[in-house]
Amino acid sequence: MYHDFNYEGTLVSSLRAQWVLDEVLRADQELDFSRRFMPESLARTAAVDSLSADEQLVLNQISAHQYLSIFGIVEEFILPFLLDHSRGELREDDWRIRALLNFAGEEAKHIHLFKRFHEAFVRGFPVDCQVIGPSEAIGAKVLSHDPLAVALVILMIEWMTQQHYLGSIRDDGDLDPLFKSLMRHHWMEEAQHAKLDTLIVDALAEGRSEQQIDKAIDEFFEIGGFLDEGLCQQAHFNMDALEQAIGRKLPNRADIISQQHQAARWTYIGSGMVHERFKATLESLSPNAARRIAEAAPTFA
Ligand SMILES: [Fe+2]
Ligand SMILES: [Fe+2]
Repeated sequence: MYHDFNYEGTLVSSLRAQWVLDEVLRADQELDFSRRFMPESLARTAAVDSLSADEQLVLNQISAHQYLSIFGIVEEFILPFLLDHSRGELREDDWRIRALLNFAGEEAKHIHLFKRFHEAFVRGFPVDCQVIGPSEAIGAKVLSHDPLAVALVILMIEWMTQQHYLGSIRDDGDLDPLFKSLMRHHWMEEAQHAKLDTLIVDALAEGRSEQQIDKAIDEFFEIGGFLDEGLCQQAHFNMDALEQAIGRKLPNRADIISQQHQAARWTYIGSGMVHERFKATLESLSPNAARRIAEAAPTFA
């Protein structure tokens, strides 16, 4: 076995790591708009040299709005997926059902937390930022795929938050402390979720032939492509918000959109695709699956 995760151990760690919403952001707390919210490793705004430092700061904050929105959207399909997955085996194993329901409860809390941050963002930011959606339609489309493909996408997402937190401490002393705390608290619980996702993937893959695994990887790519289209659309929305917030049209708008789309590809797809733990799970499913995903990873770097 390439991992030693189990339901009992993960539940115990999860219960120890748990926090409540107000420890991360109270409903009346305000974000500090004089600071950056996103780590540069994810927002990549310093590379947009046609923007002044102040304008780069605005783009960094728009990228943070995107973070809150995209995570809101993905958590909204993770929650029903977990409920569907646990439903069939309520009477099987007490540790397992408790671990899965606790996982679901934490994701419901994360949805609430991202909404709370979103409200604080809207209170402090001068213009409206449009978001792709509606999240119900995105979730329904994702969930219409093979559960193993969905589970792999979720596993990738949960591991990527580890990279996001490391990115936020490694290169940023001057991030808004509340956003930094969001990354840290989210990561604390996601680190346990990723272990449970690994067990879910193991369960869903059990007994599948190489061909059936390959089919699930096709669907993994379909979901990835669908999410990537959303990120491209979101990059356009972000540019509309930026132009409105800084009060000027950008002559190199298309270049910035493509650079920011690439930053989002890394943040929401690539940083999970190359995670060692994710790759280890793929390798255990099928070396061919691992190879196919490794070959696609540079597109999302
Ligand atoms: Fe989460
Ligand atoms: Fe999670």
